[in-house]
Amino acid sequence: MFKTMSILSQGGTIVERLEDEMGQVQSIFASQLASDLPPVNRLCGHIENYRGKMLRPTLALLAGLSATRTAKGSEADTATALEALADNWPLTHAHRVIAAVCEMVHMATLVHDDVLDEAALRRRGSTVNYLQGNEAAVLLGDYLISNAFHLCSTLGRPEINRRIGEVTNTLCAGELLQLHHRRNWSLDQRTYFAIIERKTASLIGVCCELGARESTDDEDVVLALSRYGSRLGMAFQIQDDVLDLVGSEEVVGKTLGQDLDKGKLTLPLILYLEQAEAPKRAALLELLSAQPSDDRSGSIQRMLQESDAVTAAHRVARRLTEEARAELANVPDGPLTSLLNEVAEAVVSRER
Ligand code: IPE
Ligand code: MG
Ligand code: MG
Repeated sequence: MFKTMSILSQGGTIVERLEDEMGQVQSIFASQLASDLPPVNRLCGHIENYRGKMLRPTLALLAGLSATRTAKGSEADTATALEALADNWPLTHAHRVIAAVCEMVHMATLVHDDVLDEAALRRRGSTVNYLQGNEAAVLLGDYLISNAFHLCSTLGRPEINRRIGEVTNTLCAGELLQLHHRRNWSLDQRTYFAIIERKTASLIGVCCELGARESTDDEDVVLALSRYGSRLGMAFQIQDDVLDLVGSEEVVGKTLGQDLDKGKLTLPLILYLEQAEAPKRAALLELLSAQPSDDRSGSIQRMLQESDAVTAAHRVARRLTEEARAELANVPDGPLTSLLNEVAEAVVSRER
C-alpha cells in the first residue's frame, strides 16, 4: 500500500513513523468517503484497488518534515537530526488532511481520465468505467472531487481551500488544452510543457507547498519545496508518457497506448518529429494519421526504439529532476532532504 515509501532505503524509525502517518491518511480518506448507502460504499471500495505509489500524500508529508528546522540546527549529523525530529514530531492533523485531499483530487482525475481514455485497466485491476460503465465513473469522479473540497473545508482554513481550488482549475484547464490539441501533429515542446505543467505538475507542486507551509513560516523554504514538487511532477509525466508509448502493460499495470489512440502527441514523438530526416518524419506522420490498430502502435514503437527519441525524452526528465533536487539546497539540511532526493530518483527510473 505504501509503495513510494518502500523505495526509501534509509531512516529506520522515521520511515516507520511515516508509515504510521500514511495509515492515518488512509483512515481520513476512507472515513470521508463513507456513506450510509451501500452502493456508494461499494463504488468507493473500488478506489481502494487504485492505491498506487501514493506519491502525492507521501510528498505532502515529506515536505512537512523537511521544512521543519530541528532545534539541533542544520549542522547536526543525520542521526542527531533524526533524533531531534522524532522527539519533536512536526506532522499534524492538517498535514494528514492535506495529504488525503491531494490524493482524493488525484483519484477523481484518474477515474474521469479512464472514461476519456476508454481504458479498461488501471493499477492491475479493471477500471470503474469498464466494470460499472461511464455513468457510474463520471459520478464517482464527481463524488471524489466534491468530497476532497468538503474534507479540506473541515480544516476551517479558507486559504488552503483556495489553493486547492486554484490547482484543480489549473489541472482541468491543462486537460482542456490537451483535448484542444488532439490530433495536432505539429504540437511543439512549449505547448506540451504547458499541458503537463498544468495537468500534473500543479497538483504535485501544491502537495509539497501546503505540506511545507504547515511546518514553517519561511516562504523561501515553502516556495523551494513547491518548485521541487512542480519540477518533479513534470519529470513524472514525461516518464508516464514514455511508458505509455514503450512500456509493458504487465509491468505498468494499466492500459497503455492510450495517448496514441486518443491523438495525444507526447515528448518522445515530438522529439522524433523535430529531429528525424524528412522520409522518416513523413512515415511517422502517416502512421499517426492512420486508424488506431495494434499494427500501427507496433510500428510506431519500433520507429521510436530505433531512434534516440526515448533516450532524449529521458534526458529531459532527468534534467527536470536535477532541477527539482537543486531546489533542496534551499531547504533545512538533513536526512529528510535525502529522502526527497530518493523520491526524485525513483520518479525518473520507474518502470511502472
Ligand atoms: C491524465 O494523465 C491524468 C492527469 C494527470 C490529470 P494521463 O492520461 O497520462 O494518465 P494515465 O497515463 O492514464 O494514468
Ligand atoms: Mg490517461
Ligand atoms: Mg499516461
